[in-house]
Amino acid sequence: MHNNEKLSIAKIKHYLPKTYHKYSKKLLLFNQVNSTNDFLLGLTEDSISAPIICLAEKQTSGRGRLARIWYSPRRSNIYLSILWNFSHSPEVLSALSLISAIAVIQALQKFGIKKHLGLKWPNDVFYQQQKLAGILLELKSNQYHGTKAIIGVGLNVNMPKIAAKKIPQNWIDVKKIINKPADRNKLAAYLIQQLIKNLATFEKSGSAHFIKSWQQFDITKNQPVILITTKQKTFATSCGIDPFGRLLIKTKNAEIQKISSGEISLQITS
Ligand code: BTN
Repeated sequence: MHNNEKLSIAKIKHYLPKTYHKYSKKLLLFNQVNSTNDFLLGLTEDSISAPIICLAEKQTSGRGRLARIWYSPRRSNIYLSILWNFSHSPEVLSALSLISAIAVIQALQKFGIKKHLGLKWPNDVFYQQQKLAGILLELKSNQYHGTKAIIGVGLNVNMPKIAAKKIPQNWIDVKKIINKPADRNKLAAYLIQQLIKNLATFEKSGSAHFIKSWQQFDITKNQPVILITTKQKTFATSCGIDPFGRLLIKTKNAEIQKISSGEISLQITS
């Protein structure tokens, strides 16, 4: 496989099982877009029939959580967003971050990366101590009293050398893990398949099915953490994830707090 192979809908379809071929019609691939999340956010309800998946070779305004920039160079990584309409209210959908992060881990496992993958609540995928992928979940109530969910996944695959200067945090890409450039079409197909599978399972039966996986992959458990909100920083110990997808933290006065996903970010101190 050539290092710089382009993404292609035909190639992605080739790696999807037959039962998922219908979704390749719902797949939009852009050479360049401001942000795949923004593109799907801009679609109006009557112009679409969800799910819709948007992929881009490059993003000019890729966004991370908490208004951070998501570095999105051309033909290097996977920038993918999926739009799904739920009949639930937004409050019950915060678990989608975790469910999607699990989908990323499962896709990477299928790709052959079996070890050292973990989840940093609520939405980061780590390889050892380094960030491999992030998820940006955006929810919008729709006109039918349901919720439009947009799940954006940024997965570092074949980062260019210059990325070392561009990304401030500790990160890694698939290329470094497997020691050769990775096939983005294959990875994108595995990711699409697993996201659709997990979202459909959640829609049908809620998050119960995922509790075991998110506890298994939780890398923050029993770790000292800093909980960062817009107002303050709290030093605490993570006590794991509860069945509702909330993070449990023990603060200095031994009080247990349940933290829902949202405006909150979390950093491992060690
Ligand atoms: C984070 O870790 O802060 C979340 C990063 C999410 C990045 C992805 S790339 C595809 C989609 N489009 C965006 O603008 N952001 C998400």
